[in-house]
Amino acid sequence: MVTPITTRQSIFLGSGAYLPERIVTNLELEAMMDTTDAWIQERTGIQQRAIAGPLETTATLGTHAARLALTDAGLEPSDVDLIVCATSTPDRTFPATATLIQAQLGIPVASAFDVQAVCSGFVYAMTVADALLKVGQAKTALVIGAETFSRILDWSDRTTAVLFGDGAGAMVMGTSVAATSQGRGLLAHALRADGRHADLLYVNGGASQGGRIGKLKMQGQAVFRHAVGNISEAISVCCAQAGVEVDDIDWFVPHQANRRILEGVARRLNLDEHKVITTVMQHGNTSAASVPLAFDLARKDGRIKIGDLVLFEAMGGGFTWGASLLRL
Ligand code: UT7
Repeated sequence: MVTPITTRQSIFLGSGAYLPERIVTNLELEAMMDTTDAWIQERTGIQQRAIAGPLETTATLGTHAARLALTDAGLEPSDVDLIVCATSTPDRTFPATATLIQAQLGIPVASAFDVQAVCSGFVYAMTVADALLKVGQAKTALVIGAETFSRILDWSDRTTAVLFGDGAGAMVMGTSVAATSQGRGLLAHALRADGRHADLLYVNGGASQGGRIGKLKMQGQAVFRHAVGNISEAISVCCAQAGVEVDDIDWFVPHQANRRILEGVARRLNLDEHKVITTVMQHGNTSAASVPLAFDLARKDGRIKIGDLVLFEAMGGGFTWGASLLRL
């Protein structure tokens, strides 16, 4: 018998993360361009970032993270029937990086596709996976955020080159009947986009425009001005939808663009700063990978536990932004 869609809940089963071995410190960047460790740390909080090696791609990083997430969940690749990969730096224009990860993991026929919402990609991907799990299109989903932003940086532009890094994070989501899930699962989402701001953060190339990959361009201050307000609104709406107060949340797992943005959101919403998971110092901005990387780090170091209420939020190019609430 098919379970009625309204009674299904998407529940967390496991997570994994992977960073390239090569670490680039701010001091190394000082030797490459007109910047200083002091400027980068003061304006962003970033101390270092991982950069993919010549043989690494978004798909190989994503595959590592996904394999660790499956092990954490106690599942085999053959258990997965949905792969959603959030990325803006796909290995190829097509096929989707999700299908490359599927092949590398040896996952048999499943549904697999990429979600492109830049730094908000993982929140978008979780929302899409949640919807497909709830309607019974899949039973076990791999949701991946994987990026190699180092490949789209203009290394002569100090205003962007110092900000980004490479990496991947993954989450395995399964389904449970709501009545037996004991309140666990993805509880609410708030997704937003406003394409009027597309020119404030973009890549100046693409398959259909110029026919080359292009490089990242950002008007950082203008993006910054929108970030705190946008993120705070999405968090408030997400909490209201789930019927929880911001104070009820155990952990905030934000997109890691700039420590000052994290502090601004915390101040705006009156959050306890100890509940905010911050990895921007070590990872830099890894776009769609930053949320699952931060989440996995805080789970594995014992801060985030089963039963905790976790808020994910992000904002990025488009603009896109959003929030998701998960009871682990
Ligand atoms: O993940 C997607 C979303 N992205 C974001 O949320 C990023 C949001 N924006 C930001 O995080 C910040 O705006 C930045 C970190 C990008 C820049 O910080 P800022 O405090 O807004 O600096 P600014 O752009 O206003 O630049 C201040 C000064 C400028 O010099 P002048 O014109 O005052 O002489 C820049 O040229 O800092 C200079 N500058 C640098 N100096 C040393 C810019 N980049 C650098 C650098 N090293 N790397």
